[in-house]
Amino acid sequence: MKPLVSRTAGALKGEARVPGDKSISHRALMTGALAIGESRIEGLLEGDDVLRTAAALRALGARVERRAPGTWSVAGLGVGGLGEPDQVLDMGNSGTGARLLMGLVATHDFTAHFTGDASLVKRPMARVTTPLERMGANFLTRSGGRLPLAVVGTGEPVPISYRLPVPSAQVKSAILYAALNTPGETTVIEPEPTRDHTELMLRHFGAEVRVETQRDGARAITLVGQPELNARDLRVPADISSAAFPLVAALLTPGSEVTLPEVGINPLRAGLVETLREMGADLRLANERNIAGERVADLVVRGSTLNGIEVPARRAPSMIDEYPILAVAASCARGATRLRGLAELRVKESDRLSSIARGLAACGVKVAVEGDDLAIEGTGAPPKGGARVESELDHRIAMSFLVLGMVSKEPVSVDDGEPIETSFPVFVSLMNRLGARIEAA
Ligand code: S3P
Repeated sequence: MKPLVSRTAGALKGEARVPGDKSISHRALMTGALAIGESRIEGLLEGDDVLRTAAALRALGARVERRAPGTWSVAGLGVGGLGEPDQVLDMGNSGTGARLLMGLVATHDFTAHFTGDASLVKRPMARVTTPLERMGANFLTRSGGRLPLAVVGTGEPVPISYRLPVPSAQVKSAILYAALNTPGETTVIEPEPTRDHTELMLRHFGAEVRVETQRDGARAITLVGQPELNARDLRVPADISSAAFPLVAALLTPGSEVTLPEVGINPLRAGLVETLREMGADLRLANERNIAGERVADLVVRGSTLNGIEVPARRAPSMIDEYPILAVAASCARGATRLRGLAELRVKESDRLSSIARGLAACGVKVAVEGDDLAIEGTGAPPKGGARVESELDHRIAMSFLVLGMVSKEPVSVDDGEPIETSFPVFVSLMNRLGARIEAA
């Protein structure tokens, strides 16, 4: 346990590059491991989640090496070239690592065992095992389809067409990674669009991925199986889900001006930008450009007065990881905010609907969970604070409440800052460099 406390801060100033995108970092390593030749990845997130994926890929036979801070090389084995691991793959806290790798190994003719930390072993895995079983893999899971589990991969996979029952990029990606070593065409149909980093990454490495919009508006994503993937160099954009913390902190502290360079603004990920602007945020995107098929920009943000809003359910997939910090912003805004359609938050690193509500209530905010919605009553002034919030093995809960402590009247502490290592290991030093006062409690 690593308790942290955050005290009222003044205006935030400066420029800070937040670490590489977690979703893209996992995919860069995994795709590199299936390509022929050596790929060089710059700006890789060196958080625990991604390090677990690197270790798992090594156990599956790929050569994954750190060359310099953030610069890694992956010597791939070619599609279908992974080998049986001789140890259990411990994915730590990482749902993305676990689910995508389960897809990757499902169409290899060997058995692999997966486990994770106390948070990950509670999370639902049937959402990936169900489609992967239809492709021919078998699973031996704990009750409720949870980890620890064994994937009995198939040497004779069959392509499927699968309609996602939940809007989940992890499920889509697990199927696409399984489809790489499957003959024929595999199609994933998503009624609601989810982040398309896997599609962009696979194309970058040479796979054929087609996207068609169906009559009902659903997207059909088709991968042509058994492509030859070739090594590529790439640079990982800064993570918008990490940028969200200094971004909201700067919005909430009057007189702030902060620049966050090279942040990924993929339209299927950047719902937070639109939402904060609707709330009245002074938030500018500068130097828009593309790197390795991903859109990036420098985010320039100034202290702003925010107003409460209603966020529609259909926007949730494009900002699913940003609700904890958005809820903090809403608690300082003027008027009511309603965040709709958040059922998926119940199965994240913690049950985020309840961890957000409990933490905000402890800090003196009027908040309610109504069905799958979160209702927050802002007064236009920062809440009282003064609480010790449990982070529940959830990095984003820990970071969100430390940001709240920067503006609340009394300090806010979290019982354990350790989970922050999973996605944003330099969070405390980066925030303090901009003007925060976060330290060991
Ligand atoms: C991710 C997808 C999202 C997100 C997670 C990363 C990904 O999960 O919450 O942090 O990299 O594909 P779901 O697919 O469960 O929505």
